[in-house]
Formats: sequence, C-alpha cells, structure tokens
Amino acid sequence: MCGIIGVTGAADPLQVMLDALALLEYRGYDSAGVVLVGDNRLWRKRDAVRGHSLETLRHAAPGAPTHMSSGIGHTRWATHGAAVERNAHPHCDCTGRVAIVHNGIIENYQELWEKLAAEGHTRSSETDSEVVAHLLERELANGAGLAEALRRCVAELRGDFALAAVSTHEPKVIAAARRTSPLILGQVDGIGLVASDIAALLGTTRTLYQLEDDEIAEVRPDSISVVGLDGRDRELKPLKVGWDLVAARRDGYDDFMSKEIHEQPRALADTLMGRIHADGTTELEDLRLTEVELDGIERVVLIGCGSAFYACLSGRIALEHWARMPAEVEIASEFRYRDAVLGEQTLVVAVSQSGETVDTFHALREAQRRGAKTIALTNVVDSLLAREADGVLYTRAGPEIGVASTKCHATQIALLQLFALHLARQRGTIEPEEGRDLASRLLALPGLVDRAIARLDDYFSVADRLAEVQDVYFLGRHVGYGVALEGALKLKELAYVRAEAYPAGEMKHGPIALIEEGAVVVAIATRGRLLEKVMANIAEVKARGATVVVVCDEYDEATKAVADHVLEIPAVPELLSPAVAIVPLQALAYGVARARGNDVDRPRNLAKVVTVE
Ligand code: G6P
Repeated sequence: MCGIIGVTGAADPLQVMLDALALLEYRGYDSAGVVLVGDNRLWRKRDAVRGHSLETLRHAAPGAPTHMSSGIGHTRWATHGAAVERNAHPHCDCTGRVAIVHNGIIENYQELWEKLAAEGHTRSSETDSEVVAHLLERELANGAGLAEALRRCVAELRGDFALAAVSTHEPKVIAAARRTSPLILGQVDGIGLVASDIAALLGTTRTLYQLEDDEIAEVRPDSISVVGLDGRDRELKPLKVGWDLVAARRDGYDDFMSKEIHEQPRALADTLMGRIHADGTTELEDLRLTEVELDGIERVVLIGCGSAFYACLSGRIALEHWARMPAEVEIASEFRYRDAVLGEQTLVVAVSQSGETVDTFHALREAQRRGAKTIALTNVVDSLLAREADGVLYTRAGPEIGVASTKCHATQIALLQLFALHLARQRGTIEPEEGRDLASRLLALPGLVDRAIARLDDYFSVADRLAEVQDVYFLGRHVGYGVALEGALKLKELAYVRAEAYPAGEMKHGPIALIEEGAVVVAIATRGRLLEKVMANIAEVKARGATVVVVCDEYDEATKAVADHVLEIPAVPELLSPAVAIVPLQALAYGVARARGNDVDRPRNLAKVVTVE
C-alpha cells in the first residue's frame, strides 16, 4: 500500500513527482504529500482529502520554490493514525531539516518513540513512520551522512518497510532502504529516481535497479551506490521491465476498471498463447521445477488473498478433477499462522496479482521454511513473490490499476487451469485426446469472454434497476461458488452494498432466515451437473419473496423463466465457466457503483497493493 517517489537532479523535481504520484495513486489515496529540498531548506505540501489530495498538490505547484535539488513524495493508505493532514507523509524531524516517506509498518515504533522522547524529540503525527525522521536526525547530529544515518536507523527497525529520505545537509542525495516492501531505483540523463513500483518510473526511464532486503541506497543525480546492513558495498541489480507506460494509462475509457474489463480477452489470450500447443502439450517457461520434482508432488496448497483467493477455488477444482491432485485452498493471512503440515511432497502455489501482498509473501516463506516446494503465480515480473518462489507462473495481463481486480482475476483462473492441465498430462490422469480437447477449450476462453463483454450494456441495465439495492445474497455451487464469492466481493468493495456469498446448498442451514420480500439473490445458474440443484435453491428463495437475478447460459429459456433479471453469458464447458461467468458480476458491481456516484477505481478504505498485515 502507499506509493513512494523520490527524484534528484531533475530541472523540475515537483513535476516529476506529481506525474509519478498520479501513477502510484492506486496504491493508496487517503492523502498525498511532497517535500522539496534546496536553498538550505525543505518545502513541504500535504493534503488529506481522500482521492483529491493530488489535485491540491497540483494547485500548490505554481507557489513552490524553483531551483530545488530533489524531492520525495508519497500517496498514503492509512494504517497508524487517521487519514488527516498531520499524518500525511512526508514526515519531518524536530529541526525541519530531514524528511522521510514510508510504506509498510514499523512494528517497534512505540519502543523507539519512548527512547526518542526521553532524548527530547517531539512528534507531530500519530504514525509509526515519523519515528524514522527523528532517528535520522539523531544520527545526522552524530556526524553521519544521510545514507549512513539511514543504515544505522534500519538496523534498529522491526517490521516491513520501504523508506526514502532527504535532508538539507546533502540536498542532492536521496537515501533509500527496504525490508520486504519493494523499492526500485532508476537513473537517466543526470536524474536519480526512487519509487515503490515500476509504474511510477516508466515515463522517465527504463534503466531500473532493484534494491534487496536490508540494502541501503544513496541515489545522486549521476550515481547510485548500495550497501548492506553491514556497510559493505553491494552490486546494483538491473530490473526486468515487462510493461510500457501506455499500458498504465486509461486510453479514453472513463476509468481503469472499465478499460481492464474490456482487456480481459486480450489478457487471457496473452496468458494462454504459446503455452498450449496444437497437440495439447503445455509449456510453462518459468516453472523451474523439473519433471522429477513435479512427479514427487503429492498435494497442492493454493494460497492468496481477496480475488486471488477466489481464483484459487477454481484452481482447486481443476487440479482435483483433471490432475487427480489432492488440493487445498487457504487464505494466506490464516495459513501463515496455522501450524500447517507441509513437506517436500507439498507444492504451495501463492497467487497474487501484485506479487507483493505481505500475507501471501510471508505465507510463502513459511511454506519454504517447512520444506514445501513453492510457485508464485503473479502478474508482476520479478516481484517479491516471483523472486522468492522456486518457480513462477506469470499471468500476462499487463498492469492492473483499478483497485478491484478484473483481468488479473480472470487470468489467474485460466493459468491455474492451464497448470492443472500441465500436471494432468504429466501424471497421465487424462488421455492425450482429452488433453487436446481441453487445450482447445481453454484457448477458446478469450473469445467467450469477448462475447460476454459484448453484452455489457445488458448487464448495466440490470445494474441500473438494482441501483438502490441494500442486501444481496450470491449463491453458487461447485465452480459457481467461487464466482458467487468474487461477485459479492466486487459489489461490496465498489458499490458499498452488503453482499454475502453462500454455497447454494448451505442456504437452508441458516442464511435463508434472512430472505424476505425485497431481498435480492444473484444465483450462478450456468449449465452443469448441479444446475437442477441450483434451480431448486432458487425456488426456495423465490418462495420467500426474493428478487432473483440469474447468471445463465444464453438460450437456457427454462432458467431465464424463473428469474426477475437475467445476466446471460455464452455457454462454456462447466469447469471453465468462472472466467466468463464473472464478467456480468463485474459489470453489475461497476454499474451499481457508478449509479451511486462511487469512484470505481478508488473505492473507499481500500488499496490495490496490501503491504501490511
Ligand atoms: C487487495 C486488492 C484486491 C486483491 C487483493 C490481493 O485487496 O484490492 O483486488 O485481490 O488485494 O492482492 P494480490 O496483489 O495479492 O493479488
């Protein structure tokens, strides 16, 4: 969460920062702020009007001092301290000569504050982050340079963090450090850069470097040097970049979410193409696990958070059905603290769009500690998870900026299904003919999603009719249950509507007591083995006065007949249906959210990348 930018050597560092912060805003938008350094002083501007702080900074720009050497900026998702201006970054020390920006959590900040307070430091925010500015003040007073001061300071910190700091003592230097939370460095034509992710730097340079855990960088306009916690020099490691800036722009769409919904066919095609051959064989280029290692796998545990977790539910069904592989699904934040029984024969697949979600990352590390083999399934090349895991499966969805996952969720499902096919062939659990057939059906997915997208206007008109809805229950069974969960999550996060998802068969064990006249039930009723059972569950809620919306196959007149509202999709083979069936539910949430005047790209209280526990 939280976006960080730092720039030194640019003619107009403020403009560089404002452009970068606009690209980083998806990481958090509770507040934003910048500091410029030069003329032996700091100039700071912060604002905390959710989603509008960058505008305030832009308006303040003409009043900013010119000829400043460098600056750091931040866009915040609040953790410690309310989303108000005094808690917005950058934070300064007591002298007003040091400023820092931070992403992550400093776990021992209370303890550090007590010591600093005893030394006479006073704080001006409720954040955990501010402590770093005062620690730096102390080390600078002891004679250290800024980067050395940060090195000493990092040695005292517990937690996960990315930090950038400036001071009037060395106005051309940005000091940066990280532990777990990512931070990247860049250099171009006499300009040095620091940022929390690639998106922010794509417009300025493609010469990027990664900083490793517990490394401290000193970034100057024409040089970058890196040391470890021990003070010894470290090599600069170049970073691979898979995207361009155009991909991170809205391209004429009203918002990123609608752009990303429309990009799903392309994202799916890119994720599948070249990985399935005409004869049904598969090739997963970064898997890095040998056939012998894969043969030794006796169980797969899929972990993720949010939409990634729901994608895992579809993955489990595919692994069990095609590959006959025992498979479990776990929420990363829960898995991590359980005493999970894992061993060499277990494969843990960590699914994460960003590759940075801190719970997923630590869960993967925990799995490694317990001897399991690990794979990261992620959209970001060289992300934390990708670097940590034994092997990688990359979705090729391009940058996803809208906070609510769409194209990445769809590609996660498809890639897990492709992985299941890969294992099925290797384990001999499907006949070659069946494998070929399955491969061709998987390759048809982008076209089917495209046909669902062609119906977006129909979906939006259902959304318009449900704009005032208060409580919605999503029901599904088997593959439809994961779709129901994801549909409910979308409605909650975008439209702020109370939405619950249940396995349809479980309704009668309690939740049906909530159904009364006016309740809205969205049922996933696509053709499959359990359609009749779902129809019976629909009848049960209808009998109690619910308004029923169905997601069903086109031409399925019998299902349409029982519904008050219909969201039709093209017919899809049962196991492959989730990536298509989710499209109308994305549109439903989008439409209801827009009808209510909500910001779909920046829903309240959320952030795209969750780097705190
Ligand atoms: C946040 C996002 C969700 C996402 C989840 C997991 O909650 O808003 O869209 O599904 O994090 O993120 P990851 O990057 O690990 O897939």
